[in-house]
Amino acid sequence: MSKCFYVSTPIYYVNDVPHIGHAYTTVACDVLARFKKSRGHQVFFLTGTDEHGQKVEKAAVAKGETPLELADRVVKRFQSLWEKLNIEPTDFIRTSQERHKKGVIALFRKLYESGDIYLGEYEDWYCTPCETFWTETQLLDGCCPDCGRPTDKLKEESYFFRMSRFQDALLQHIEANPDFIQPRTRRNEILNFVREGLRDLSISRTSFSWGIPVPENDRHVIYVWFDALTNYITALGYPDHPEKGFQDFWPADVHVIGKDILRFHTVYWPTFLMAAGLPLPKKVFAHGWWTVEGQKMSKSLQNVVEPNMLIDKYGVDAIRYFLLREVPFGLDGDFSHSALVHRINSDLANDLGNLVSRSTAMVGKYFDGVLPAPSHPRPEDAPLLQAYAAMPAKVDELMNELAFNKALQAIWELVGLANKYIDDSAPWALAKQPDQQDRLGTVLYNLCEGLRLIGRQVAPFMPDTGEKILDILGCAAGDAPLQPGTSITKAAPLFPRIESE
Ligand code: MSP
Repeated sequence: MSKCFYVSTPIYYVNDVPHIGHAYTTVACDVLARFKKSRGHQVFFLTGTDEHGQKVEKAAVAKGETPLELADRVVKRFQSLWEKLNIEPTDFIRTSQERHKKGVIALFRKLYESGDIYLGEYEDWYCTPCETFWTETQLLDGCCPDCGRPTDKLKEESYFFRMSRFQDALLQHIEANPDFIQPRTRRNEILNFVREGLRDLSISRTSFSWGIPVPENDRHVIYVWFDALTNYITALGYPDHPEKGFQDFWPADVHVIGKDILRFHTVYWPTFLMAAGLPLPKKVFAHGWWTVEGQKMSKSLQNVVEPNMLIDKYGVDAIRYFLLREVPFGLDGDFSHSALVHRINSDLANDLGNLVSRSTAMVGKYFDGVLPAPSHPRPEDAPLLQAYAAMPAKVDELMNELAFNKALQAIWELVGLANKYIDDSAPWALAKQPDQQDRLGTVLYNLCEGLRLIGRQVAPFMPDTGEKILDILGCAAGDAPLQPGTSITKAAPLFPRIESE
């Protein structure tokens, strides 16, 4: 049986419409999912929407809708954007679905019955935008230490999760599994946080009603993060353990998230799972945040980057490429139109596009579009052929580290080598010498074989482009070396240059 691989995005709040930050996580997970599939894994790739909570309830009231009407409307925006971005999730979970509610209630019950959830009373400072309670000492000038907005004092009867009980077990787990929290700096952040001590966590609310009712006490709704985090198992059929679901895919290989929701995923979620006696996800990877033209993205600044518009203007593959190439995964980055146009013109139009059009045009011109057979290799072919042989393993290694930008760099090194090989071997000069036909055939074969490898490696990142390249070469899957005699189509430019505005 082939190996199973489970990757998830966070589930997105429906009080906001999708922007480039949401697209970023989702594209990264889609690329990873496609990559793992291309390497023969059975992949479960999950995304979805987080629909409960006060934030969504408030947004709905403001729009004169019910929360579910709001959710139904906004979910479509997410789903249509994912389709447009060529995202192919295995499943899309909505927390308003029955299958999800059933699983959350089962988990809640289980922890209640084992004594890890108890009824108590709460008094603390609550940040509604972040759906987070803070103690007096955590506040910064009375405001939320995460987002800087004002907080409200709340006192309510509440169910608590005995998180304190799992402090030592969690510490041990993080220490024994250096790869559990990535990147490294994030791991240290969490280690320090846990070492300062874990308090029990309030996991129910009585101040609003849009949520999953606490079993046997429906004055309370279950805290939105308890509800939301559980999506990672309810989508797999929990509390049941179906094949092709929980049984095959849990624990997740990686939860990909933004750095702002790290604590929920590396402290709350693992301790819930420990309490339930379930295995922990193998890895939580926190990526950085995008600013826009140097500024924080926000509605009030009206600088929210809307992916639909970008895709219409530049094409889906260019956007997918840019997001993962521009910034090392894990660090913050800045989105600017000039950086995007620069990447498209230099990496895509110039480097990759020209390599494809030059190579295929020469097969057309000198061999009537029929791929020649290679003959004796020469020493000057060695660096290129060695790079071909080394590339897949190198890309594998980098992808397993989620080092998307380095994987792309590695592929582009090969693009660079192949372009240089054209310049150095000057096929147009060979074509003028009748006794150099064999050599010309070898050079062009080597180039097309490089295109095949490149097409295969770029396909997870840029599915359309990968497919186009393999089509041009007349090889569908692209996993066997090119056959001499294959018809090579002359390619239309893959990426037209963008003229500056
Ligand atoms: N609903 C919670 C997640 C629950 S997961 C069990 C949530 N939703 S969110 O819609 O607010 O954010 C989802 C993701 O988008 C987060 O990972 C967040 O980091 C990411 N981003 C939001 N703005 C971003 C940027 N400006 N840049 C990069 N990612 C950003 O949190």
